[in-house]
Amino acid sequence: MSKRPEWLDNAVFYEIYPQSFKDTDGDGIGNISGITEKLPYIKDLGCNAIWINPCFDSPFGDAGYDVSDYLKVAPRYGTNEDLINLFDKAHSMGLHVILDLVPGHTSWEHPWFKESMKAERNEFTDRYVWTDSVWEEPEGYGSLRGISDRDGSCAVNFFTHQPALNYGFYKPNRPWQQPTDSEGAIATREALKDIMRFWLSKGCDGFRVDMAGSLVKNDEDGKGTIALWNNIFEFLDKEFPEAAMVSEWGEPRLSLAGGFHMDFLLHFGESHYNDLFRCERPFFEGLGDASEFVKKYKDSRARSGGKGLICIPSGNHDMDRLAKHIHRERLKLAFAFLLSAPGAPYIYYGDEIGMNYVEGLKSVEGGYGRTGSRSPMQWDKSKNAGFSSAPSEKLYIPIDPSPDRPDVTSQLGDEKSLLNEVKKLIALRLKYKPLQSLGNIDFVCDGAPGNPLAYIRSLDGERIFVAINPANDPAEIKVNIPAAFNEIIYQSGNGGNFSGNICRVEARSAVWLRERDRG
Ligand code: NOJ
Repeated sequence: MSKRPEWLDNAVFYEIYPQSFKDTDGDGIGNISGITEKLPYIKDLGCNAIWINPCFDSPFGDAGYDVSDYLKVAPRYGTNEDLINLFDKAHSMGLHVILDLVPGHTSWEHPWFKESMKAERNEFTDRYVWTDSVWEEPEGYGSLRGISDRDGSCAVNFFTHQPALNYGFYKPNRPWQQPTDSEGAIATREALKDIMRFWLSKGCDGFRVDMAGSLVKNDEDGKGTIALWNNIFEFLDKEFPEAAMVSEWGEPRLSLAGGFHMDFLLHFGESHYNDLFRCERPFFEGLGDASEFVKKYKDSRARSGGKGLICIPSGNHDMDRLAKHIHRERLKLAFAFLLSAPGAPYIYYGDEIGMNYVEGLKSVEGGYGRTGSRSPMQWDKSKNAGFSSAPSEKLYIPIDPSPDRPDVTSQLGDEKSLLNEVKKLIALRLKYKPLQSLGNIDFVCDGAPGNPLAYIRSLDGERIFVAINPANDPAEIKVNIPAAFNEIIYQSGNGGNFSGNICRVEARSAVWLRERDRG
């Protein structure tokens, strides 16, 4: 892992899907000025860092994950100056801003791709992964074929309109498969550095990296991609040591070896992340089993040598909303976990008020089933929930039509709301260091059926005991260490308490206990 920027030690991120956050010019779609306008809200929530989904020029076949100009803010969101102004304002308020970097593919409308489709050799001929005959497809990948003068098929990385950039093959076994140290692969890598350099020198604080593990092909155990990232981190460490890098990889042991400071647990991969939040019987709905998650999580931490941060997000633009599977007061329990876990927490916009997954929406910009998690932020009870002044039928995605949809203003005025609870939890996290990114975690109880989830967070001799019991019955946990966790710093539901070595946690409750007098 490259040297971690210090600001990550207590970072709490807020993910913003720019289309749906706040529209200030009445065209029905969110924009950069809308984000700038709402910085005080994010600050008041307690978050100190922001991740913005791709906001670059794009034909928007995949909501901006199909970039056609990495160096230009999409006009529908504003200008580069608006984004730089956002960085400046955020910094003046103590907030950091990371952008979304999509290194694995571009849009098929990117000028690089148009050049690479030409029959005549040029600077971009090797920018993408092409076979040397249209009759041969790149095995294991989808392909684009029959659309170019060039005789070849181009590998795709995700949707068909997202051709795969060429970083080489770890084990080339066809003549057209270039090694990772070939001229073309190196040129792509250097072009990626230029994009990073461009935004970092304008004030951006780092990147969330899309499909970070997908870059080198034929690279089963990730060695080629790890070496590629090691090279990129050499450049970052030298030129931008304060830049924070989080990967969409879902395998911390690989990502952190690549140099990333943080990796996400995701809805795919081996982490069992969604045993907690999104499955038939989610743990936080009081039904399920967290033990496989705990096992994998401990294993991931051990295998990544305690280096780097493993980030557990509340959700993101690709998953069902948290509130689709976890209901009412139990959402508070999910946040009592998310905000007391190691690594930097990521709150997906709107999850802090329990926004619904909006059922039955028509797919927007390649969202498909994800569209229901991308609906406009609900600020208040005014027209379009305060998101936009556009006619409702002009909105990018319709607003949640449910009569009891949550909104920020109402929840701010309600002491018992989820929003106020999340604010309270973040404030406590920022107050007590053991709860922050680097504090250790020792599991006391693994959330197997009938058991709560309980762990001790510790740092520099300070300890905090966390127990969360989403089930309908109270639970007792035996803690085999002499401790005096006698200061309740947080409780939800009916909380819990120690009597000797036994901690009782009430049904549908959580408690955070601080050790005051060691005994
Ligand atoms: C992961 C992104 O989160 C998702 O939204 C996108 O569609 C794919 N990568 C392709 O870039």
